[in-house]
Amino acid sequence: MKVISTIKEMREYRLCLTQSVGFVPTMGALHKGHQSLIKQSIQDNAHTIVSIFVNPTQFGANEDFDAYPRDLEKDITLCEQSGVDAVFIPSVEEMYCGDEITLNPPKKMGYVLEGFDRPTHFAGVLQVVLKLFSLIQPHRAYFGQKDAQQVLILQKMISDLFLPIVIVPCPIVRDDDGLAFSSRNIYLSPKEREIALRIPQTIQRVRTYIAQGITQVSQLESLAFKELSYDGLMLFYATFRNHQLEYITHIEQGKSIFLIAAKVGKTRLIDNLWI
Ligand code: PAF
Repeated sequence: MKVISTIKEMREYRLCLTQSVGFVPTMGALHKGHQSLIKQSIQDNAHTIVSIFVNPTQFGANEDFDAYPRDLEKDITLCEQSGVDAVFIPSVEEMYCGDEITLNPPKKMGYVLEGFDRPTHFAGVLQVVLKLFSLIQPHRAYFGQKDAQQVLILQKMISDLFLPIVIVPCPIVRDDDGLAFSSRNIYLSPKEREIALRIPQTIQRVRTYIAQGITQVSQLESLAFKELSYDGLMLFYATFRNHQLEYITHIEQGKSIFLIAAKVGKTRLIDNLWI
């Protein structure tokens, strides 16, 4: 496996690849969720490139950029053992020159939900992903459905900018206790983790209510709120939206998402159900 840290070397490496390229952008601290993206990319493509870059522009001023978990050695070993062809690990200086052209996310999708609480977040995500796409020129790029809003906004970027890349959303991977894998889960104490389990439990309940035939959003939301009112869990949102992230009154199979964001201790957690 090649470990690449400069733009120049990455360009040269990419020029040598003549068959399909799958790309898995990450911020490192790789877990089973990332592993599933890598596995899918390897299955679909002749070559798989993973990037590891904790992108400063998508963190707000009071967020956890400095504390964000980093374990490069472990990540490189995991990539190698998973069959990745190249891992791209640039420095901040390599990626950014200072005063740069940036993209704003769409007004309707970029400043609601995660974008409401973190108004600069999606501009940072679009900036780094577009740069990585320009450099790596993948045929397909793999993202976890756990970051539902990110997936939908990136699909819109691909469509609005006519980029010849297919975004492949991959299912959420959960730990044995049901919590969706996230690099930030390591911040949780055992007690906090127990509280956090209310989130996947609520998702499971909502799945059951839907299977029982409930489609009215007001009814589903009030059932969900009951599950989520719990000591130690600070709820930001629990909401049903369509794929444009607009409010809906009834859910529709294949067209709706139930999204949750909550804080437990100092850790912000998100989870969702693609209906
Ligand atoms: O989902 C993530 O880990 C990040 O937002 C991404 C897509 C790697 C961009 O930094």
